[in-house]
Amino acid sequence: MEKKTFYITTPIYYASGALHIGHAYSTVAADAIARYKRQRGFDVRFLTGSDEHGQKVERKAEERGITPKQYVDEIVAAFQNVWKVLDVSNDDFIRTTDERHIKIVQKIFKQLYDQGDIYKSSYTGHYCTPCESFWLERQLKDGCCPDCGRPVELVEEESYFFRLSKYAPRLIQHIRDNPEFIQPTARTNEMLNNFLLPGLEDLCVSRTSFKWGIPVDFDPKHVVYVWIDALSNYITALGYGSEDETLYNRYWPADVHIVGKEIVRFHTIIWPIMLMALNLPLPKQIFGHGWLVLDGGKISKSVGNVVDPIELCRRYGVDAIRYFLLREVPFGSDGAFTNEALIARINTDLANDLGNLLSRTVAMIDKYFDGVIPAPSVAGAEDETILTLAKELPARVDEQMSALHIPDAIGEIFKLIGACNKYIDLTAPWILARSEDGKERLKTVLYNLAECLRIAAILLVPFLTSTPDKIFAQLGTAASRQTLESVSFGGTQAGSHVQKGDAIFPRIDMEKELKELAAQSAPAPAPKSEPELAPYKEEISFDDFQKIDLRVGEVIACEEVKKAKKLLKLTVKIGNESRTIVSGIKKWYAPADLIGKQVVVVANLKPVTLCGVESHGMILCGSDPADETLSFVSPAAPLNSGWVVR
Ligand code: MSP
Repeated sequence: MEKKTFYITTPIYYASGALHIGHAYSTVAADAIARYKRQRGFDVRFLTGSDEHGQKVERKAEERGITPKQYVDEIVAAFQNVWKVLDVSNDDFIRTTDERHIKIVQKIFKQLYDQGDIYKSSYTGHYCTPCESFWLERQLKDGCCPDCGRPVELVEEESYFFRLSKYAPRLIQHIRDNPEFIQPTARTNEMLNNFLLPGLEDLCVSRTSFKWGIPVDFDPKHVVYVWIDALSNYITALGYGSEDETLYNRYWPADVHIVGKEIVRFHTIIWPIMLMALNLPLPKQIFGHGWLVLDGGKISKSVGNVVDPIELCRRYGVDAIRYFLLREVPFGSDGAFTNEALIARINTDLANDLGNLLSRTVAMIDKYFDGVIPAPSVAGAEDETILTLAKELPARVDEQMSALHIPDAIGEIFKLIGACNKYIDLTAPWILARSEDGKERLKTVLYNLAECLRIAAILLVPFLTSTPDKIFAQLGTAASRQTLESVSFGGTQAGSHVQKGDAIFPRIDMEKELKELAAQSAPAPAPKSEPELAPYKEEISFDDFQKIDLRVGEVIACEEVKKAKKLLKLTVKIGNESRTIVSGIKKWYAPADLIGKQVVVVANLKPVTLCGVESHGMILCGSDPADETLSFVSPAAPLNSGWVVR
């Protein structure tokens, strides 16, 4: 029989800056669901990607003096690294700059235009560049963007519009007929009452004021604006509209789009209407999750290191971070990220409840039965609770996961773990070990504990990616055998050898850790007093000064000088000539920081050889007296390379 398919997506992430731990939330949650469905035997397709166009990217690239494509390439490489570190198991990664995406977005746009669903008009509105959103006068809050509170720009331009209003009645009916379509349910009412029932305005879907976007091929001064480009990713990644639609035919419609609450509106209004206009089936569900908040506000990247997902994984381990994200925030509501909450979760659930249960069980099997898991012997009244919990657990987890209640599914597994810890207290193995009769009972107790741990570990597989294997290894059961088919009670083989190992989650000293974190994020202490400036040098004549030939140069290449701690080797273009200049600025700049920058060169300095490289000139830099801070000197406005500086 063919496997049932399951297509799940995350939003595609804006490639306009680094990811923080809040971003990781959508993707780790979707990953847990994807892994869960795979474990349950589904043929899963899990998609994530990057949303790379728009004015913000264009501006940021310009500030850095690089092309938008160079800029997004860097950012997207970093995204992919974050997902790799977090063990995200996506089957595909779509970039909106992929040829496969661009071609189909153009085709979709043209089709909607040809059939009259997109038309040309002109737009006057208030534009918030950071949010890439247009707002009507009445939507502004104190004249600013209602989402981020920043100032907006009044713009008027010729634009294409998408007739959302035409499809609104059909969408309202669809939402009413399909209560599962928007989840959690409260978001359904929000969409109906706040947006659909009051009436939809047509949507501006092209821009002429910036270039970094997918060109409208039949009117190339326009680029496709935001949502038509972004939302299509869910089908362009499946090859919709291309020569090979195999994946599209197999996986569309999506089973669920996982999205943050602020973009539910786009996914439940614009996206279904686009699909209706294209005559395609609608996704089965859009699940809008809440935010991970920091000090009461949505996490933003300005908060620094503490919310960098890679730094968090390095410090606490990938599974600890995945556990926190999946367990702490009720799926659908907001949850707070604090260092205390994270450390408390690690200590209480992972180190104490799960970690201790494993180390105690393995240590007792080691001590009382020479490391060999005994066959169960004498049953006792205390067994009832954990045996019932263990037997019912797969169904309970499934019930929660079917409703995407991830924290509750994990909570069910931890109920068994908690009950096992209690079971140890109730049965008191150290007393049983003292008598022959007691030892018979102890065989059952330790078998039951090992078996419950094995079952819990199998069910933890979708959520924690390395811990289950560590548990299987310590229990002496091969990980590959621990599939869902072997989840029923009794799978542990008596006679297997346990392997004592390290604590799977070492306890963290909360007080010490918080102090360390506070010290790390404290601003650098201000210098006690301004250090004395260097004394002025001896006076020189203007003629002497005139002897120095200063020129505008442009750094076209840069690399580190091997074996030299401080040196960078720059290739600087001065007019038509390019020359090598060695500069002692490695402490302050990476080669990539300098490429494309304009500098001021002392062009007539006698060449010197530094660490084996001949240097032809010097670039001017300014620094503080202690050489802590340094910056190269650059013209305030671009000048032609080779021009004289005087
Ligand atoms: N590019 C759009 C999505 C287009 S989908 C066709 C976008 N990108 S985003 O980078 O801003 O956000 C990506 C996801 O991260 C969204 O689901 C968003 O809700 C989520 N989060 C960003 N910050 C978050 C928190 N602090 N907490 C939880 N999720 C958050 O929107």
